[in-house]
Amino acid sequence: MRNWKHFVLVAGLAVSIGWLGAQQKKQPPEKMVFPSKFGNVTFLHAKHVEREKGDCTVCHDKLWPQDAKAPLNYKEGMHKPAEAKKTSCAACHVAGGKSFASLGNCNKCHAKPGAKG
Ligand code: HEC
Ligand code: HEC
Ligand code: HEC
Repeated sequence: MRNWKHFVLVAGLAVSIGWLGAQQKKQPPEKMVFPSKFGNVTFLHAKHVEREKGDCTVCHDKLWPQDAKAPLNYKEGMHKPAEAKKTSCAACHVAGGKSFASLGNCNKCHAKPGAKG
């Protein structure tokens, strides 16, 4: 009798843990909005994944964990420190990189009209 109760308890626990695990797996987002006083930035996650041919390792976890709450580490010093280190968004968005650098392109990312580099 005691063993039977123990089995039920352990089996129940295993099912609960499995269920929690499944809940924690996040789907890749279509897009994400990073709030900023300079005008919010819409990051097209799906488009960025497509351009990297579905290779998640280009960004995860080398540049960021798969977590919208983790810091981007890009905004400091108007993006200059990140560009110097070619890290965060500036792993690609940098002079000579895969895509446009911050200078002169503020409004390609920031929504505030009239924001210029
Ligand atoms: C071009 C870079 C890039 C690529 C490639 C990329 N991601 Fe992301 N991903 C990001 C960024 C940036 C964030 C936000 C990180 C932060 O806020 O610190 C993110 C966040 C996430 C999140 C968290 C979403 C949330 O709501 O918390 C998941 C899940 C995710 N990515 C999955 C994936 C998967 C799966 C792939 C491959 C199919 C992938 N990513 C490829 C840049 C990328
Ligand atoms: C792995 C390289 C890579 C990383 C990392 C990356 N981007 Fe991009 N991004 C690109 C490329 C390539 C383009 C297309 C550029 C073009 O067409 O000139 C692009 C385009 C964009 C665009 C224009 C809209 C679009 O998606 O076509 C925005 C806005 C943008 N990126 C924001 C960001 C932000 C914000 C981050 C950091 C959270 C980031 N990117 C990180 C490679 C990257
Ligand atoms: C590749 C996209 C991109 C470009 C280009 C870009 N920014 Fe940003 N910027 C961001 C993102 C994303 C954030 C928010 C970062 C974060 O949450 O850590 C940000 C944050 C900022 C902040 C901090 C604002 C706050 O609320 O704390 C300032 C200031 C800023 N950017 C200025 C500029 C200026 C000036 C330019 C042009 C010279 C520029 N940015 C170009 C993506 C970009």
